[in-house]
Amino acid sequence: MPIVTRRAKGNAEVIIDHELCNLCGLCVNVCKGPLYIENDRLQVDQSILFGCIGCGQCAAVCPQKCIVIEGREMSAKDLIDLPPREQRADYEQLQALLLGRRSIRDFKHQEVEAEVIQKILDAVSTAPMGLPPSEVQVLVLQGFDSVKEFASDMVEVFKSKKWLFSPLALGIMRPFIGKEAYDLMKTFAAPLPDLFSEKMAKGEDLLLYGAPLAMYFHASPTSDPLDFAIAGTYAMLAAESLGLGTCMIGTVAPFLKYRNPVSKKYGIPTENNQGIMIIFGYPKYKYTRSIKRSLGGVTYY
Ligand SMILES: Cc1cc2nc3c(=O)[nH]c(=O)nc-3n(C[C@H](O)[C@H](O)[C@H](O)COP(=O)(O)O)c2cc1C
Repeated sequence: MPIVTRRAKGNAEVIIDHELCNLCGLCVNVCKGPLYIENDRLQVDQSILFGCIGCGQCAAVCPQKCIVIEGREMSAKDLIDLPPREQRADYEQLQALLLGRRSIRDFKHQEVEAEVIQKILDAVSTAPMGLPPSEVQVLVLQGFDSVKEFASDMVEVFKSKKWLFSPLALGIMRPFIGKEAYDLMKTFAAPLPDLFSEKMAKGEDLLLYGAPLAMYFHASPTSDPLDFAIAGTYAMLAAESLGLGTCMIGTVAPFLKYRNPVSKKYGIPTENNQGIMIIFGYPKYKYTRSIKRSLGGVTYY
């Protein structure tokens, strides 16, 4: 039975050029669904497992380029030639990019060009997702003015929800959320509404740091709950490679999950999974060193 998501309801069609197909079987090996070879012919049986989910693996691996997928938001134009191996980043290059990234909260007074934004979105569209097609949606706040307007709107939302972090409300929540979450809410989240609004009143944006560009990554309830975060991480790294600095902003998303004027104004469906905001801009300061961080733990078994 086909998997039903917001963007895809039925199976994708696997279109095979049997003249070109030499039955090498690579497509069958990578397909964990409807492809098999029988009677010297590549066959498709959409009743196997979920049928064709439009992952594109068969078309991408085929040395003869004789498979095309149509449906579930895929078509022939989505199959593009791979860049040559020598053009792909090796570990040292990737590690250099990763080491060079810092969370940037101070930006030059320079807008981010539309072509650069498009390059970031092109990189994001290569990200994996729980189930194709991607359900990730991106709200692009383009330009200093848009980001500032969003930040001001958001601070109003924080102010209206301030009661959630009052000692009384936190005390009531404590048995349900546990001590660790309670401590985090009390020490980190509770002071934020006042802090943001006091600073905003003085013209200082502590929420989105006066960035020239921000993107909110969110996704429908039929997406994997991690899809938006993976897309956002791709955006950060793509931006880094384009000379931009970035910072993830986690404080925005929890407030967009429930009915509020900001979600409505900016077209963020409240039924969507909670997302992540990322700010972008050309960094004001040049960093001279990276930071080696430790993980919370690594366990081999
Ligand atoms: C999910 C997530 C949410 C974050 N939220 C915020 C935020 O709301 N405000 C902020 O200034 N930084 C935020 N950060 C940035 C972190 O504070 C930063 O990544 C961390 O201090 C490590 O610094 P580095 O990114 O320079 O290595 C967030 C980072 C992540 C990954």
